[in-house]
Amino acid sequence: MSQKKTVRDYIRTIPDFPKPGIMFRDVTTLFADPRGFRICIDQLLDPFADQRFDKVAALESRGFIMGGAIAHQLNVGFVPIRKKGKLPGATISEEYLLEYGEATMEVHDNAFTPGERVLLVDDLLATGGTAGAGVKLCERLGARIVGCAFIIDLPDLGGRKRLEEMGLRVESLCS
Ligand code: PRP
Ligand code: ADE
Repeated sequence: MSQKKTVRDYIRTIPDFPKPGIMFRDVTTLFADPRGFRICIDQLLDPFADQRFDKVAALESRGFIMGGAIAHQLNVGFVPIRKKGKLPGATISEEYLLEYGEATMEVHDNAFTPGERVLLVDDLLATGGTAGAGVKLCERLGARIVGCAFIIDLPDLGGRKRLEEMGLRVESLCS
């Protein structure tokens, strides 16, 4: 009897995207499969089964796909952390460096009530620049990041270490 596919089995790797030398981990193949998407969302939440959350915050753009499903499952609100210039209301911003380039993340300045317990989600943790910026934005508004959940951790790029040094709990499904 064949073994059931794991989350890792649904992810494909595309070499040299978006630049030569980058091994791009493509989660569209995971999200496109109904079983893959479901086990991904369920497994992201498993480690936090004993925690209470007030909001899910997710990072543009692939984080939104999981973040909406997770917020629905937890029955809590969803906060988008977006790239510069996309949010219509008053925002606060954080600049950060990427594995390939640099960027700025923003969140609406009224996205959280101080003390709210937040789960931060994204598809992939590389250098931790994006997630670190997201964490700082949430914390500047008084939110408490209870945990950070990723599908993929690329440990050689140091993101997990960086977030753990910020005192954060980091969970991922594969590395
Ligand atoms: C990717 C990924 C994470 C980030 C991780 O997003 O989805 O958000 O990079 O890299 P880091 O840990 O080095 O910061 P990308 O910037 O490619 O944006 P996209 O989701 O809009 O394609
Ligand atoms: N974001 C940063 N590095 C990445 C990679 N190797 N694959 C997919 N998304 C990424």
